[in-house]
Amino acid sequence: MSKITKTPTGLRVPDAVTIPFITGDGIGKEISPVCRAVVDAAVKQAFKGNRSIEWLEVEAGQEAFKKRGSYLPDETVAAFKEYRVGLKGPLNTPAGRGVRSLNVALRQALDLYACVRPFRYFYGVYSPVKYPERIDITVFRENTEDVYAGIEWPFGSDNAAKFSKFLTEELQETKVRFPETAAFGVKPVSKEGTERLVRQAIQYALAHHRRSVTLVHNGNIMKYTEGAFCNWAYELAEREFGPYLSSGRLVVTGITCDAFLQNAISNPDEYSVIATLNLNGDYISDVLAAQVGGVGMAPSGNINYETGHGIFEVTHGVASDIEGKNVANPSSLILSAAMMLEHIGWNDAAKLIVTAMERVLRQGISTSDVAESQKHGKCVGTKEFGDALIAMMNPSSHFGTR
Ligand code: NAI
Repeated sequence: MSKITKTPTGLRVPDAVTIPFITGDGIGKEISPVCRAVVDAAVKQAFKGNRSIEWLEVEAGQEAFKKRGSYLPDETVAAFKEYRVGLKGPLNTPAGRGVRSLNVALRQALDLYACVRPFRYFYGVYSPVKYPERIDITVFRENTEDVYAGIEWPFGSDNAAKFSKFLTEELQETKVRFPETAAFGVKPVSKEGTERLVRQAIQYALAHHRRSVTLVHNGNIMKYTEGAFCNWAYELAEREFGPYLSSGRLVVTGITCDAFLQNAISNPDEYSVIATLNLNGDYISDVLAAQVGGVGMAPSGNINYETGHGIFEVTHGVASDIEGKNVANPSSLILSAAMMLEHIGWNDAAKLIVTAMERVLRQGISTSDVAESQKHGKCVGTKEFGDALIAMMNPSSHFGTR
């Protein structure tokens, strides 16, 4: 078992690296082996057999619960901590507890503060908008704060009553319209949390030759949380990246979330890298995903850039309506794995996967969720789509990408 370690300048990745993965529930069982086969083929092809991945299966979700009585065993969290970078399929919602709690537990355990989601269009994929190729936007969504921090109390609970009393008596707050029947949630937004996210968004923009970082916020209404997010972000940009701003190499600008959501549909090419808070990021991601082919196509990575920890995962759910039919689209997981390869510096393998995806989809070969909408699409199964990607990467095949 070979572990990734963190050095002051980045990650040290052994040539035979161990990567933990969660297969996931539902269609996870179908897309996970296909994804691993595609990644193995890309790594082999890119590094001529000198690098490889040793996949380490770790349990979570329904299977883990059946076998171990826990939806997220401690060993699983420990493996992601120890091996630093991993891959995750979709997990079902355990009855009475949100699946969010599994994802949140993993993110909290590793402090994966940045949810990074690149949205781009692959020619050949159905889109409900006229010019989806104008979308090439990477969203940096803060993952640990905001109303999604999970600090809330239900109506009628002791804590809601205590909080209401504290607001009215200690803080002389009179703006709660119906204090007797209110539930409460808290929206923490910190300077540290903002700065570490925005710093990475800017560094990403510079490393990927992007011209702008847009802060998406509702600071006009929520002055001391979202307004502060914006102010801290501008201060950080000025302080740490001043020469890039003054030379015009990079522009850091801001827009309210409602205006952005409108523009994301009418003028998406005005945006390149987005830095935003947790709740806004949720809405923004779905609006952008819908335009580039939906949940089956959109990848994501949850990353802590200081420790190097990262979990790369599908953005869709377990899709039990199509489970076991070999029709699920494995692209979200495969593109997430390509992000993972980039994160560990195996860029050549990542590029092979993305190029193969571009070419296979351009030929009209895709799973039914995408093929259904294509004029000349060839609908293939989950496994066959993976085989087409692998064939496309093979230089001896007439499909070869090189
Ligand atoms: P879902 O994403 O599972 O399904 C919504 C629709 O999209 C369904 O019609 C499904 O067939 C289709 N779909 C999803 N992924 C697809 C793919 N790869 N290829 C083709 N079609 C695909 O969302 P839903 O129904 O809201 O959630 C089902 C379960 O999944 C719930 O228990 C939910 O909590 C969980 N979930 C887990 C997530 C995760 O672990 N990352 C994310 C979202 C939901």
